[in-house]
Amino acid sequence: MMALVGFAALTLCFLLIQPHAASPSPSATTKHKHLPHSFSSSSPSSSLGICESSVIPHGYKCQELHVTTKDGYILNLQRIPQGRAEVAGSSAQKPPVIIQHGVLVDGMTWLLNSPEQNLPMILADNGFDVWISNTRGTRFSRKHTYLDPSNPAYWDWSWDELVTNDLPAVFDYVADQTGQKINYVGHSLGTLIGLASFSQGSLVDQLQSAALLSPIAYLSHMKTALGVIAAKAFVGEVTTLFGVAEFNPLGLPVAAFLKSLCRYPGVNCYDLITALTGKNCCLNASTDDLFLKNEPQSTSTKNMVHLAQTVRRGVLTKFNYERPDLNLVHYGELTPPIYNLSNIPSDLPLFISYGGQDALSDVVDVGSLLDYLKLHDVDKLSVQFVKNYGHADFIMGVNAKDIVYNSVLAFFNRQTRPS
Ligand SMILES: *[C@@H]1O[C@H](CO)[C@@H](O)[C@H](O)[C@H]1NC(C)=O
Ligand SMILES: *[C@@H]1O[C@H](CO)[C@@H](O)[C@H](O)[C@H]1NC(C)=O
Repeated sequence: MMALVGFAALTLCFLLIQPHAASPSPSATTKHKHLPHSFSSSSPSSSLGICESSVIPHGYKCQELHVTTKDGYILNLQRIPQGRAEVAGSSAQKPPVIIQHGVLVDGMTWLLNSPEQNLPMILADNGFDVWISNTRGTRFSRKHTYLDPSNPAYWDWSWDELVTNDLPAVFDYVADQTGQKINYVGHSLGTLIGLASFSQGSLVDQLQSAALLSPIAYLSHMKTALGVIAAKAFVGEVTTLFGVAEFNPLGLPVAAFLKSLCRYPGVNCYDLITALTGKNCCLNASTDDLFLKNEPQSTSTKNMVHLAQTVRRGVLTKFNYERPDLNLVHYGELTPPIYNLSNIPSDLPLFISYGGQDALSDVVDVGSLLDYLKLHDVDKLSVQFVKNYGHADFIMGVNAKDIVYNSVLAFFNRQTRPS
């Protein structure tokens, strides 16, 4: 399960070690029960969209947009069409970039550092047309054409549906609006759904190139004690937790489940940030605070179970219904179909950056991923190893620009503006 989250780790940490969070006040409890947006209700920016709270105040243009998936989910997107210094009306065709966050967070996490430090604004200031995507179920992407998030049917999806429905909807929209090939940046689960899509030939016609930060595909070497136990526990807890179709880390049933994991021997929840994400070398304490005001976001329990299956089995497949007859109903086969990453087109330009301290995207698992890509055209695959980086440093590290983003920029520039 711990693809989980570089991120949410920070919040879970507070959740687990702060007495008041472990037993919320009655008013907080009530809010958590009723309001989908409850956990951000303490944030001053919660009622504002991401543009208004986190982009426009820094002097950038930003548009809030909505895209409907073929299964009815209405996703929120932010577009930052130009750099801060550009005068209105500059109409040069800029290469579009879609930025896709990981699980249990939303697009806001890219924007918590200063404009000089965060990826979307750095890309906008360097001539890219930036589109920030927000996965179904996160606070600004909770609308649906006919399902309400209080209805368990709303949560009947895993990352398979992000592959088949969310990403294609966002790509189609951006391709339609810009008429150009698209560059993609994913972090964590955002890399997994990208890789799974490309392996099936999906999106590749619209894609210029993809940058994958802290890639998650194979998870069986994930080191953290908590992660491993959580993944095992998820199996046992499936039936119980399926009663909770929404996986809201701050909602009571899920919080209690997470807390119960801390009683396992070897799990030190007092060191949970490190335990879950690996040692993040370079986070800013103020950014952490901002993170805690904005995250984590909900996902579906089915999505967490699917991730747990990946941890346990070491094979990348569609969601396993754990019963041959049910798999047969869904897939026409007794076992779920495999995503074979060797089928990613070998001429697709890929940039992969991974960290030596990343306990979620373990170096051994990244090695497995690279092994699947061993026949990739050598001049189409760039791999960067950042020795001291943990999972969250790739999004919120104060030095991520110098260490990672400048390389991402150079990579995109090589694809979109060949000299
Ligand atoms: C950390 O964040 C604060 C508040 O945004 C900022 O003033 C400070 O310069 C940041 N530190 C670094 C090293 O980026
Ligand atoms: C994955 O695809 C490669 C190349 O098409 C093939 O050689 C390999 O056997 C496949 N692996 C699985 C597990 O299907």
